[in-house]
Amino acid sequence: MKTKITEMFGIEHPIIQGGMHYVGFAELAAAVSNAGGLGIITGLTQRSPEALAAEIRRCRDMTDKPFGVNLTFLPTVSSPDYPGYIRAIIEGGVKVVETAGNNPQKWLPALHEADVKVIHKCTSVRHALKAEAIGCDAVSVDGFECGGHPGEDDVPNFILLPRAAEALTIPFVASGGMADGRSLVAALALGAEGINMGTRFIATTEAPVHQNVKDAIVAASELDTRLVMRPLRNTERVLRNDAVDRLLEKEKALGSNLKFEDIMDEVAGVYPRIMQDGTMDAGAWSCGMVAGLIHDIPSVKVLIDRIMQEADAIISKRLATMTRH
Ligand SMILES: Cc1cc2nc3c(=O)[nH]c(=O)nc-3n(C[C@H](O)[C@H](O)[C@H](O)COP(=O)(O)O)c2cc1C
Repeated sequence: MKTKITEMFGIEHPIIQGGMHYVGFAELAAAVSNAGGLGIITGLTQRSPEALAAEIRRCRDMTDKPFGVNLTFLPTVSSPDYPGYIRAIIEGGVKVVETAGNNPQKWLPALHEADVKVIHKCTSVRHALKAEAIGCDAVSVDGFECGGHPGEDDVPNFILLPRAAEALTIPFVASGGMADGRSLVAALALGAEGINMGTRFIATTEAPVHQNVKDAIVAASELDTRLVMRPLRNTERVLRNDAVDRLLEKEKALGSNLKFEDIMDEVAGVYPRIMQDGTMDAGAWSCGMVAGLIHDIPSVKVLIDRIMQEADAIISKRLATMTRH
């Protein structure tokens, strides 16, 4: 399949693996790129620019295909060494960066100078237009369904994607709720040039996370996610568990007095315990409603090939026979 996104990133299939904290290591990124998609290493999961440089080298040893790095700009007080991470990306020869969170404007000149394409992930048309205006090459439009941070506007992809298509000139991919060939064809119909998947890629054999995480996604239905941290305007969609129930109780009890310190136990530094140790109730971890559409744990290649075959069958059989009269 040829779209503006496959052309821009030099990939075979219009499928991107979004950056995921403590999931997006070289093993997963390389598997996605080797299967013809665009794999992405999560920059901030690496504790220092040196560690990111080493992870990029490790990924390069596992694939000769293009892959990217996610840089999430967090609203934190003690900022990570972003200039160092940018240097590691450029010196590592990476040609695609997925930015997310705050406005990436400050970093665009250095990245573009080094021939790096920037795809910014946003949850509203207004932020997508801003990304276009500051010179991003593409955007990833993340609907309300998505795992992780859906923003505060709560617009699902059936509205958000066609709105993005109406407003944008640069190409965009659909993110949030994408799982299979049906998602891909629907996304293309709504104006996207491809899809970005998070949760679906965790439930694959190559995702370097504990088996309990994969099993939890397969066991979950579309009803099992919750929104946390809404009172802090830092909303995150997570899989419901004991820690999340506790967190939501605190949010209810404290109302507008809630502070980040009140929920530290449930959200701060919990990812290694969940993703690596498999302690599923250790805290809140991002997961999309799309868990309801995930019923197996295939290899990344089987998953991507299946998506492309399903998409082809929907277009050339189901849709074609409906319009052939
Ligand atoms: C466990 C997990 C961790 C994530 N961590 C990040 C992150 O660190 N930075 C980021 O930009 N997006 C992160 N995301 C969001 C994904 O990149 C992607 O946008 C989202 O998962 C898409 O929705 P889906 O899960 O319905 O496919 C994370 C998602 C998950 C499920």
